[in-house]
Amino acid sequence: MQSLSRHSLRLAKRPLSSQMRQISTSRPAKAGLGPASVGLLAAAALAFGVYSLDARSAVQEYVVCPLIRALTTAEQGHNLGILCLKTGLYPRLFSDVDDPLLKVDVFGKTLSNPIGMAAGFDKHGEAIDALFSLGFSYVEIGSITPEPQPGNPKPRFFRLSQDDAVINRYGFNSVGHWAVLARLRERFAKLHTKHPDATLNSFQDNKFLAINLGKNKTGDEVEDYLAGVHNFGPYADALVINVSSPNTPGLRDLQNEAKLTNLLTKVVKERNSLEGELIDPSRKPPVLVKVAPDLTEAEIESIAQSAKDAKIDGIIMSNTTVQRPVDQLITKGDIVNETGGLSGKPLKPIALKAFRTLRKYTKDSDLVLVGCGGISSGKDALEFARAGATFVEFYTAFAYQGPGITRKIKDEITEELKREGKTWMEIVGSDDK
Ligand SMILES: Cc1cc2nc3c(=O)[nH]c(=O)nc-3n(C[C@H](O)[C@H](O)[C@H](O)COP(=O)(O)O)c2cc1C
Repeated sequence: MQSLSRHSLRLAKRPLSSQMRQISTSRPAKAGLGPASVGLLAAAALAFGVYSLDARSAVQEYVVCPLIRALTTAEQGHNLGILCLKTGLYPRLFSDVDDPLLKVDVFGKTLSNPIGMAAGFDKHGEAIDALFSLGFSYVEIGSITPEPQPGNPKPRFFRLSQDDAVINRYGFNSVGHWAVLARLRERFAKLHTKHPDATLNSFQDNKFLAINLGKNKTGDEVEDYLAGVHNFGPYADALVINVSSPNTPGLRDLQNEAKLTNLLTKVVKERNSLEGELIDPSRKPPVLVKVAPDLTEAEIESIAQSAKDAKIDGIIMSNTTVQRPVDQLITKGDIVNETGGLSGKPLKPIALKAFRTLRKYTKDSDLVLVGCGGISSGKDALEFARAGATFVEFYTAFAYQGPGITRKIKDEITEELKREGKTWMEIVGSDDK
């Protein structure tokens, strides 16, 4: 210590240039880090930094997502996710090429893979292009209501983290048609200049932008949807009629046969009266209806009948469930009984069972079935495909596993398809045989 301070004193008496020379030429203390070690450490830190920025890195799933969950409420976490995506502050996929085995032929077009983002994550159409960049081939924005409405009072979104599940009762919080339309028009103008030859409203090769339509809490149960078809049809590669949110009083009643046939027939008529999609005036967007998993076999059969009678193009099974499979939940306590729809892993068996019933009543038709509900792995996606899903979508698993999940699921599916020597399209509906 004494010799060190004497050394410093000697240094201080000399001119600065000579002090610098002495410092730069002096050997590092034996106990300190040598230049090689410092270099190695810096390289490791840089590599780790770059790795962490890759959407697929384990850091995203095992550090970033849990940290966000620890520091935010479910709704704050959701808003933060959207904010990061819309401002560009999110990890990227450094490479994301879809294997041709994953190709989906649907609605006369092609999707480069069968994985979609379900409605409810990007309710107001703020993060469309960021979601495409994370590997989804289908992004469904909404639900959007005609008039802006705040939704239910907070808190209205709850995590059941031990179960990789959530319960939500947002109640269609929406900025309304005009605000989303303004955003879509701005996006269209910008992207059309850049990609004048685009043939899809997604402005992405082999990817769809779907728009999910809801109704206002006090709105008209037919007119609200017709307004949606009229306003958003020109900007959509597919339109989804949502009659299955459990959080809008009376909405699920629209699933009864007479009401549904009436609604869907009018929706199809409105769609047919459109001049065409803005990007492709020769095409009018396919119409899908999104239904609940909490239906009896007879109710599912009548939904299939309505869909066929009204000549819509597809059905999404399913929305969230009002059931609480308590025996299968690890989470205990009052939170399980929060009012709202349950989604995530515990929904999967419920949704898949309802999906299989729907398939039973639609396989004699051209209706496209979309699988949704608790999908969180390639295995889950393949199960829905074998049961008849032309493609699948999810939401809750994205919240738990983070931005690398789509690539991960695509890799798992590709590996399995290669093992079986089949393409995705070859396994769709293979359980029927
Ligand atoms: C917070 C939250 C909000 C949702 N909002 C909507 C919505 O506005 N419209 C809709 O059709 N589905 C909505 N859903 C349902 C999802 O699109 C999906 O059908 C459901 O969560 C099941 O899929 P998952 O288990 O992969 O999340 C919402 C789901 C969650 C978790």
